[in-house]
Amino acid sequence: MAADAKLAVEGGTPVRTAPFPAREPFGPEDLEQLRQVLDQQTAFFPSGAKVYEFERRFRELYGIGYATASTSGTAAIHVALGALDLEPGDEVITTPLSDMGTVAPIVQCNCVPIFADVGLGTQILEPESIRERITERTRAIIIVHCWGQAADMDAIMAIAREHDLFVIEDCSQSHLTRWRGRLTGTIGDLGAFSLQDSKHLQCGDGGVTITDDDDLGARAAVYVDKGCDWTEDRQYRLRYAFIAPCYRMTELQGAILCSQLERLEWIVGTRMRLGDRLVELLADIPGVHPPERIEGAEHAYWHFPIRADAEVLGISRDEFGEAVRAEGIPLGGGWIGKPLYMFDALLHRIAYGSSDYPWDAGRDEPVSYYEGLCPQAERSLRELCVLTLNERWTERDVEDCAEAIGKVARACAARA
Ligand SMILES: Cc1ncc(COP(=O)(O)O)c(C=O)c1O
Repeated sequence: MAADAKLAVEGGTPVRTAPFPAREPFGPEDLEQLRQVLDQQTAFFPSGAKVYEFERRFRELYGIGYATASTSGTAAIHVALGALDLEPGDEVITTPLSDMGTVAPIVQCNCVPIFADVGLGTQILEPESIRERITERTRAIIIVHCWGQAADMDAIMAIAREHDLFVIEDCSQSHLTRWRGRLTGTIGDLGAFSLQDSKHLQCGDGGVTITDDDDLGARAAVYVDKGCDWTEDRQYRLRYAFIAPCYRMTELQGAILCSQLERLEWIVGTRMRLGDRLVELLADIPGVHPPERIEGAEHAYWHFPIRADAEVLGISRDEFGEAVRAEGIPLGGGWIGKPLYMFDALLHRIAYGSSDYPWDAGRDEPVSYYEGLCPQAERSLRELCVLTLNERWTERDVEDCAEAIGKVARACAARA
């Protein structure tokens, strides 16, 4: 549809009136997989075939020794941290730009989340900021490949090895995404994935933790089921080796994942192609910043983040989003809205009753968080708009997005 230059929000013709394609993740293959679960007369993973099959195929896909399925991405990170067996009060450095599922397990393992800052244009942890936050209590780093772009794992692994730190890669948004040819999740000590509804590979809710380390792999497999051990010939041995949560995946989730795995390469490949094209199309638009690309990193575009610079555009991020939406483009605002440490649970250390534990474990003063702790994370959240593109979009869809964003941005910048 031809658009006139008058903005739709001011009564002009919108760039687009047709709706954008929604995800359609399920088909007859999923139904067939689910039928097989019912046929086997059990949805309990140790007695069935599907979760084992999913774990085996995920290990093969990632070329790695161990994959432990669980109930969510949060659980997968908890399992990864549980495998590390950290001490109360140990510090884990991570990002303030993520789902709370990255951070809650740190506290549940009695450890203290320490937030480093991100790159303004990437929203991914900056290696130098990680380095600055290391103390004698630091034991691990959880790196999030934010939005689906791989972090600079060479720099992060160099820092980790120098300071003898474990690295967990939170790959919830970066399924099948490579850093210099290596899959994210296989570079650090452990990788953890959310398989929740919005993710590239999904089963409604689920998670998986991977590692190539024999000890970590064995401990993860036991940690996921309250210390019970099913690992040898599926024989249940009631070890209760240590206290741990119960995050067993059911066969229903495993079955869906077996069929969804068939689509994963296509989903990730399509998003990479569309997202990279949109980065090109948005390159020279004033006041609009598509994701800054890291050399050597693939980007799987779980979502497509755009920063709107209010100074150049002369309007706020919210006003910009509203004007683009009026053009028929589903541009959302803000993602989590504020850095994780500004939410009450972390700001006021709300975890175990009225205590400050674990933030005060072995310290005179508890670790605290405050506005200004990670300025680039705070600024990027103020500026962020998010496009939830998906694998059913076409090149035409991203062209319409670019046209509408360009139309609004140029008109606003000219008046600013
Ligand atoms: C980067 C990241 N980590 C962790 C999680 C938590 O995953 P779940 O909701 O499956 O527990 C999410 C969920 O969106 C995420 O995006």
